[in-house]
Amino acid sequence: MKSFASLLAFPASSLAGTVLWSGIFNSSATVEDFDDWSWSNQIEPWQWYIHGTGKTSDYLGLSTDFKNPADTSDAQGVRISIDGTSFWNGQTMERSELIPQTKADLGSGHLYYHFSLSTKTTNAPDASFEHQIAFFESHFTELQYGLASGASGSSDNTLRWNAGGQTHWSVQLEAGNWYNFAYDIDFDAKTVGLWASNGSDPLTQVVAPVSASTSSNSADWHVGELRLPNGGPNDAVEDWFWSGIYVEEAPITKEIGSGSSSSSSSSSSSVSSASSSASSTAHTSAAQTVISTAEPLIVSAVATSSASSTVAAVTSTVSPSVNTEAATPATSSSVALATPTTATEILDDIRALFSALVSRPTGVHARDFARRE
Ligand SMILES: *[C@@H]1O[C@H](CO)[C@@H](O)[C@H](O)[C@H]1NC(C)=O
Ligand SMILES: *[C@@H]1O[C@H](CO)[C@@H](O)[C@H](O)[C@H]1NC(C)=O
Repeated sequence: MKSFASLLAFPASSLAGTVLWSGIFNSSATVEDFDDWSWSNQIEPWQWYIHGTGKTSDYLGLSTDFKNPADTSDAQGVRISIDGTSFWNGQTMERSELIPQTKADLGSGHLYYHFSLSTKTTNAPDASFEHQIAFFESHFTELQYGLASGASGSSDNTLRWNAGGQTHWSVQLEAGNWYNFAYDIDFDAKTVGLWASNGSDPLTQVVAPVSASTSSNSADWHVGELRLPNGGPNDAVEDWFWSGIYVEEAPITKEIGSGSSSSSSSSSSSVSSASSSASSTAHTSAAQTVISTAEPLIVSAVATSSASSTVAAVTSTVSPSVNTEAATPATSSSVALATPTTATEILDDIRALFSALVSRPTGVHARDFARRE
């Protein structure tokens, strides 16, 4: 559980504009650092457990070449790759996802979740598969790329932003372009909007906040890619490049890094606070098990608040642990999907629920805790 003491000690007003958590990489960060994290050594700032059976360096890489060059706040960006080995926990989806490790509360108040994303022509993502990117456990908001699973056609080069399962903004993915994003999440008002820009441009609001079932236990933002099978295999490697990953309290920082080209000089202070926050909080307490135990609350809400008969049908194709946990009584109001009215909408809901159920990591959490004790 998030400690109430931490909430009381830092009322929202005193946190305005501050960075709550930073996943920015300094020049000394190495790929080996990710492997130092484990369930029994939960060091900040990243959890690393959702990946395939290969070496970590197959799925993650750090380099100055992997960041938005306009962003001088971080020294390196991270390559997050999937390939034909990227099956995690017996699932049929290919997944490589980092998750924030932090004692900060990333699920209350009015927050901005920042990141920049790019691809190259080498190891380009396959547009014939649905990708879920930078998603929360309940999928209340996320980016998607590629042909939506179940959609007609053979490929779709659209990078789209979804809230509550609806697309509100999209762009054609162009290799080599840096896309900067900030999810504008008001956990109190239960709304989410989107800020975006290209390259070195400052962020602008591209979608005004819409209502959504906002929730986070502070350990369920999946920074990486989940690729659905879309009914067929493809073992080719896909590389996605990420940088400038941090979460701040409103008001938003619009500049990208210290804005070497187009931004104002005032930006450097807010972003350098991101890196100093990262270094001062890294490698603190190892005993943060409570964060992960909170997760089933969110998951069960997803499973039960929509259409329970649908969920039962869908989960029967998944692992037994999913069924067990889906049966846990839900907290009341976490997810309020619109009532489906057409067959297509019902199918979409089934798909969304299936994705949420099979993508969530609670089965491993439970087993891991059991093993450790
Ligand atoms: C980024 O560039 C693309 C292609 O030129 C354009 O369609 C898109 O609107 C731009 N994004 C923003 C947020 O301005
Ligand atoms: C670089 O970042 C790591 C992890 O956040 C931190 O432990 C280390 O102290 C930082 N090094 C420098 C030189 O800031």
